[in-house]
Amino acid sequence: MRKAIPCDVKDGASPGEGKKRIEWADHDMPVLQTIRERFAKRKPLRGLKVSACLHITSETANLARTLKAGGADVVLCASNPLSTQDDVAASLVKDYGISTFAIKGEGSATYYKHIRAAIEHFPQITLDDGADLVHSINSDYPKVASQILASMEETTTGVNRLRAMDRQGKLKFPVIAVNDAKTKFLFDNRYGTGQSTIDGILRATNLLLAGKNFVVAGYGWCGRGLAFRARGMGSNVIVVEIDPIRALEATMDGFRVMPMNKAAAVGEVFCTVTGNTKVIRKEHFRLMKEGAIVCNSGHFNVELDIPALRSLSSGVRKSVRPSVDEYTLKGTRKKIYLLAEGRLVNLAAAEGHPASVMDMSFATQALCVEHVAKNGHKLVAKVHSVPETIEQTVATLKLKSMNIALEKLTAEQVAYMGSSELGT
Ligand code: ADE
Repeated sequence: MRKAIPCDVKDGASPGEGKKRIEWADHDMPVLQTIRERFAKRKPLRGLKVSACLHITSETANLARTLKAGGADVVLCASNPLSTQDDVAASLVKDYGISTFAIKGEGSATYYKHIRAAIEHFPQITLDDGADLVHSINSDYPKVASQILASMEETTTGVNRLRAMDRQGKLKFPVIAVNDAKTKFLFDNRYGTGQSTIDGILRATNLLLAGKNFVVAGYGWCGRGLAFRARGMGSNVIVVEIDPIRALEATMDGFRVMPMNKAAAVGEVFCTVTGNTKVIRKEHFRLMKEGAIVCNSGHFNVELDIPALRSLSSGVRKSVRPSVDEYTLKGTRKKIYLLAEGRLVNLAAAEGHPASVMDMSFATQALCVEHVAKNGHKLVAKVHSVPETIEQTVATLKLKSMNIALEKLTAEQVAYMGSSELGT
């Protein structure tokens, strides 16, 4: 029998169901599988302690298995109170012997208790999604900070926080901005967030999207992906942007672009993906139509001003459906529906990005962990890019798994590209 390992997972969660989900996801993660097989033979992470603060999903489980196969001693904790798949967490502990601290619906005190458990593992390498783990180590655990070789950051919001810490001279150890790798943001942020956000909205509401005015706030990679997927479902998509280049891009991509105070009055579904705070505020809720649906797919639950919505409301009916709360505005019969308490709707109301796209993000993560194991002592305390060789490896392996071959340059084409002689 397996020795009991430190953990805090939901009582009664089914490890059997979790294991099935982990295996199902693994079918669609061929790049990570290839890396795992090599890690199992070569053990490049032998003797290293790794703590990872990530969404505890079946895809994350396969990343953790890969790091463990490489010889790492891995501890996981949740990077969001609502994104944990409890059966997966239970299976990680029981079937894979990976110490996990995550319970769906955990409050703030438990969330930080779980982060502390991951820190008290005394890791040399950390992985983060949103920078809560790094921020805690950096602020409160100088001894742990001093032994960290590097940390990998998975998401835009986390990278923004880390760059701010770097600018203020507060960053005590190196971090690698995995989010900024092409093998991450072009696929995970765009196609992953695009699809899984629609999935979350539909699972929560069972709404017909065709013909609806669908407002997307933010036209970064996540916003672009969401806008295209919403249009694919037949919605009339409106984009709200603060950046002139992105607003122009959205316009030429065929979307209507307008400020939130105009969009609020016509929208029927609203989703924020900006990484910023209070994107939808009191004045916007006031303008909304009866029955408007509001949600967020950005990392933190600050994009919708929920205290403002509460203060405008005479009452809240919690869970009129799972992940749907109904707010009735004071002095009116107007109802606004808030999904997933304003937290990441794709992870809280659905299962997050599909495995096939997480395959690339997590393959990039696994290879970065290997890179840090080899070269971490040479890295300085700042925000680093993912090495280009890692990106090339992940893209090449993904294409291979899809049976897609590249064209090759002829010798004449190589010479042509390298010369300036040939003109008109
Ligand atoms: N972020 C978005 N989707 C995810 C998933 N399926 N697993 C882990 N992190 C995610």
